Amino acid sequence: MIRVLSIASECAPLVKTGGLADVAGALPAALAAEGVGMRTLLPGYPAVMDALQDVSEVYYFHDLFGAPARVMAGRAAGLDLLAIDAPHLFARTGNPYMAPDGRDWPDNPERFAALSWVGAHLGVHGALGWHPQVLHGHDWQAGFVTEYLRQMGGGPATVLTIHNIAFTGATDPGRIGSLRLDPWRFHMEGYEFYGGISPLKAGLMGADALTTVSPTYAEELMTPEFGMGLDGVMRYRREALSGILNGIDTDAWNPATDPAIRPYDSPMGKAANKAALRAEMGLPDADGPLCVIVSRMTHQKGLDLVLGALPALLDHGGQLAVLGSGDPGLEQAFRALGEQNANVAVRIGYDEALSHRLIAGGDAILVPSRFEPCGLTQMYGLRYGTVPVVALTGGLADTVINASPAALARDAATGLQFSPVTADALRGALTRLCLLYRDRDTWARLQRNAMSHPVGWDQSARAYGALYARLATNR
Ligand code: ADP
Ligand code: GLC
Repeated sequence: MIRVLSIASECAPLVKTGGLADVAGALPAALAAEGVGMRTLLPGYPAVMDALQDVSEVYYFHDLFGAPARVMAGRAAGLDLLAIDAPHLFARTGNPYMAPDGRDWPDNPERFAALSWVGAHLGVHGALGWHPQVLHGHDWQAGFVTEYLRQMGGGPATVLTIHNIAFTGATDPGRIGSLRLDPWRFHMEGYEFYGGISPLKAGLMGADALTTVSPTYAEELMTPEFGMGLDGVMRYRREALSGILNGIDTDAWNPATDPAIRPYDSPMGKAANKAALRAEMGLPDADGPLCVIVSRMTHQKGLDLVLGALPALLDHGGQLAVLGSGDPGLEQAFRALGEQNANVAVRIGYDEALSHRLIAGGDAILVPSRFEPCGLTQMYGLRYGTVPVVALTGGLADTVINASPAALARDAATGLQFSPVTADALRGALTRLCLLYRDRDTWARLQRNAMSHPVGWDQSARAYGALYARLATNR
């Protein structure tokens, strides 16, 4: 049994703002089969502290970035957790990063430095006899683990996973003291980045191994187009970097047992869900495909392209149903679109159950992201026979097999990919989609291929297991 401490700022089903939470929540169970005993260190947000059962105190800090704090071991939602009980940092309403008014907490750098600080201390001192052999951090929030380990004279092996390089946690150099960083490490090989402090850069330079969530994104990260200024660092660490594709939770996302829908195990079963979805969303019957979107509404997700490309869908008798929230401008644009068009239905908000009904009831799911480290919703689409229409980038490139004539002929195709990521190319893909949809036989094959495409964790769990084993034995 290899002991691994996963260090994350969110974890489903307890706290979630995006796919990072799904992955942090899924890894422990997926890896148990590989002989990995994983515990997860989380900030003690109210939702985490309230859910914790069989609680015991395993660590005490007299002063964790401003006040005393405890680390509580316990179980919640089937997970073995270590939660940082530090009310001055984490007992707040709102989501992990923002106040209810949508603004970032001003002390986010310190809050997540504290997460890394605790991770490093548990790495060195263990938690009541449990000593992790590998510390596996996620995104910038765990970036300083390696800096703090260094201050303590070293510790277990470290892995840092990049879920999204767009978020670096960068802050100004005036915070070196409040972040408890070694001032002598404010240089290019340390945590300095363009004159500021970057926790992500620190972790990228310091971790023994780097992973990201798809092989294609691993390649993309080394290019100026996708590296967001860190591509040089990624090229420098090329040897340490690998891409391990995310899986999805195939129990929570199982069309045959999903309690949120009318269960089905073949594409035919989608008809009842589609009718129910149309009724729920107030959409009339139509001849063309019903496309769905479940997404954060941000520049990354390319939803503005949908606004431009939509006529190609509607002119062929297609429809669109959208669930999402985020950028106020995009929310407004989609709201207006829904009001103006009988064949477009829009729900602004976050709604787990509705997301299942959309994916079960839709014919196709659109994911036109400008960049996508992995992406999970296209995999939900595959599993539910809801044909993904995706941009050819990152994990979208790795999980969908484009319906080219050759792939269709070999019965390998599972969806549609378009490139470049422009409204024009999306328009072309939507037209292609509508034509394929009319050919009932080809469409049914596409759906069946999609439903049988593997989207679980098996293969990736083996890759993580092998990585941990290598790191643990190299110590
Ligand atoms: P990202 O993490 O970049 O947002 P992913 O595709 O990896 O993208 O993960 C997004 C996760 O959040 C998926 O589980 C998706 O179903 C969920 N999600 C996004 N927006 C909503 C919403 N408005 N309502 C319900 N679930 C949502
Ligand atoms: C990030 C990425 C997304 C990925 C998720 C989980 O939020 O934007 O593509 O699926 O992390 O790794």
